[in-house]
Amino acid sequence: MGLTDTPRWLPCQYLYDAKGSALFEEITRQPEYYPTRTEAGILERHAADIRDATGPVSLIELGSGSSVKTSHLLSAYAKAGGPVTYVPVDVSAAALERARARIGRLHPTVRVDGIVGRYDEAFPRFRRHSPAMVLFLGSTIGNFNHGESVSFWQRVSRELAPGDYFLLGADLVKDVSVLEAAYNDAAGITAAFTLNVFARMNRELGAGIDLDRLEHVARYNEDWQRVEIFARFNSKQTVRIEPLDSAVEIAAGEMVMVEISRKFLLRDLTSHLATFGFAVRQVYTDDRRWFGLLLLQKEES
Ligand code: SAH
Ligand code: AVI
Repeated sequence: MGLTDTPRWLPCQYLYDAKGSALFEEITRQPEYYPTRTEAGILERHAADIRDATGPVSLIELGSGSSVKTSHLLSAYAKAGGPVTYVPVDVSAAALERARARIGRLHPTVRVDGIVGRYDEAFPRFRRHSPAMVLFLGSTIGNFNHGESVSFWQRVSRELAPGDYFLLGADLVKDVSVLEAAYNDAAGITAAFTLNVFARMNRELGAGIDLDRLEHVARYNEDWQRVEIFARFNSKQTVRIEPLDSAVEIAAGEMVMVEISRKFLLRDLTSHLATFGFAVRQVYTDDRRWFGLLLLQKEES
């Protein structure tokens, strides 16, 4: 199977209904889940430097979620003077609403112009906000398979004006035990996040799945450089899809892939991004080199 043919069961946005968004925020507070606090530390240390590098730009954030980490950037851009426009984009209306209220409190001078919708719905707005910097934090890029990632970068490259910036958060390859612990937290929050998508299917598709017979499985696949997250069906079940008047049989022991979380090597990422017309202006990382924050600039075509 070629890299572009990686099977994927469902697009990642389906994991983020109101419950899924709340569970993800709880995941970010688990001791084993290092990405959020590591990236937040990098942002805190380098926000002023990033502002100096880009000058005044509008900030457009894809998959902004709670926007908590973004506060470091909003503070730095507001402190530098001049008006700051922040455009958070997220499919989760609940997450966007919580973020808007928080930013209003903490950064009253920042103009927030949020978009409830998918990333692709925000792409046509990039030029309108130029000079701009698009933020894609948290290593959400890792939830795309290779094909989705190529389409994403092609589209972003087309829509961004030359000279505009892109700030990318990428979780880096590291010890397997650290990676697997992050997706198997002891409190079971990641398991609840995985199983929530089946609860959503029961509610919205009348699927009739017995959730007590599902098990969360997350393991690192070294060949594919990614954590793979599955629901294992511990008994045979018939999953109904009422709107289509159809059903799918799942065998006992079958593993349904719910999510992938790719991990990156900085040198691969840099050369991959260059093929889409992005120059890496700066790479920020933490002491353990667990997480990378890349400041990219769209080159003249
Ligand atoms: N950037 C935040 C949140 C990451 S969780 C952080 O770093 O912590 C991923 C976020 O992307 C969720 O808030 C989810 O609702 C959103 N999301 C997932 N797929 C999306 C899509 N196709 N379009 C827009 N938002 C999406
Ligand atoms: C949003 N995204 C980057 C998370 C990740 O680490 O891949 C989603 C997640 N799934 C389970 N835990 C966290």
